[in-house]
Amino acid sequence: MPSVTSPQQLFEHELQDMYYAEQALTQVLPRLAEEATDRELTRAFTSHLKETKNHVANLEQVFEAIGKKPEAHRCAGIEGIKKEHEDFMSENDASADMLDAFLTGAAARTEHYEIAAYNGLVSQARALGEREAVELLQENLKQEKEALKKVETISKRIVKEASNGSSRSSRSRTGR
Ligand SMILES: [Fe+2]
Ligand SMILES: [Fe+2]
Repeated sequence: MPSVTSPQQLFEHELQDMYYAEQALTQVLPRLAEEATDRELTRAFTSHLKETKNHVANLEQVFEAIGKKPEAHRCAGIEGIKKEHEDFMSENDASADMLDAFLTGAAARTEHYEIAAYNGLVSQARALGEREAVELLQENLKQEKEALKKVETISKRIVKEASNGSSRSSRSRTGR
């Protein structure tokens, strides 16, 4: 069991956790983009996939900046959010718009998780005087916040359209 008794060790642990989470998300986002039927939502997932690949690269640079080898530690938080999505997909036969609305919620949960993690990492890196790490982590944090805002806007529109009974709401998902 690795001992965590210094801020430096905790920072490394949290970094490994996010390195795992970001890598997992590069696998999940293409699936979400495929499952979404709303074009703006699909585009949002696709563009966040590009950013997420950059988040992985930024984290690798952070490891380098602190003189450590990039290492991933299984992040139970992101696995939980993934499982919630998988359960919904296997347990429910959702209409296209309700599936899209669900996906925006899953995405928002993920972004909130990432934002909390990066807020912590940024303040830890700052306290440790790791200036390069602070900059790289802030870049990731900023993009997570923007992604959250975007997905929340899309979510509001989808739910509003569905509640108004627009044509999309009665359309069923293709292949179902
Ligand atoms: Fe990310
Ligand atoms: Fe994200």
